[in-house]
Amino acid sequence: MIASCGSNRRGRPITRPLEQRLRVLGDLCAPYARIADVGAGQGRLSRRLAEKGAVVYATERTPRGVTALQRYLAHTPITVLEGDGLGPLVGHVPFDAVVMAGMGSVVIQHILDQRTQLGYRPRFVIQVVQGMIAVHRYLWNRRALVHSAQFVQERGRIYATWVVTFPPSDEPVGDWSSRGLLHEFAGDPLWSEVCGHETQIRQTRLARSLPESERMRIQEELQYWQGQWELATLDRS
Ligand SMILES: C[S@@+](CC[C@H](N)C(=O)[O-])C[C@H]1O[C@@H](n2cnc3c(N)ncnc32)[C@H](O)[C@@H]1O
Repeated sequence: MIASCGSNRRGRPITRPLEQRLRVLGDLCAPYARIADVGAGQGRLSRRLAEKGAVVYATERTPRGVTALQRYLAHTPITVLEGDGLGPLVGHVPFDAVVMAGMGSVVIQHILDQRTQLGYRPRFVIQVVQGMIAVHRYLWNRRALVHSAQFVQERGRIYATWVVTFPPSDEPVGDWSSRGLLHEFAGDPLWSEVCGHETQIRQTRLARSLPESERMRIQEELQYWQGQWELATLDRS
């Protein structure tokens, strides 16, 4: 396990074990032979994927990020590319899966918006740090096919993780409403915890003064999350 964790900027080994959220991504990517890790950071996931036998390309947005990543991934067979989102993948042999992890919902949506540039439809393995509902809405509105969805908890934080493919059209086709929020996670062991958290967030927001339309929207969402939370708590008792 430790051997899979790479080296730091000075070439010294990183000895901490791989994070649980990255291990889950490694397992989800196991069926795929060619994988692009977009926004690879220190390349910890890329390294794990390469060790499992995949052909891996790791990207970073800036020259500085790429220089650091190259250092982290020195002496591995992983190809490092520079550029924004999916841009650097264009023109390469198609990837079976594109992973994006450790980013917020705005960046993830920005990158997913570039998907038609690829000219083919890979699986996207997505793990969002913040803004899981925004990503759910994005996927729902585009009728993305969700192959799997699960939560991963690490250091008090819950990461939503999806494996999806998109239909051929890149136009938003859905008309999202608050109904069915995150329904793809409803059987997850962490579902009741997420429902409780989302309920609390909305109760706090409603305690502030808000424009009427926003108040109504939050109230509607609160009803949903409270209902789900009650159901999930009943299921567990
Ligand atoms: C917090 S790190 C996560 C690294 C790794 N994916 C992980 O999950 O541990 C986010 C990385 O995404 C990169 N990034 C942010 N926006 C990007 C974009 N538009 N295209 C490519 N990389 C991006 C950042 O430079 C940063 O290294």
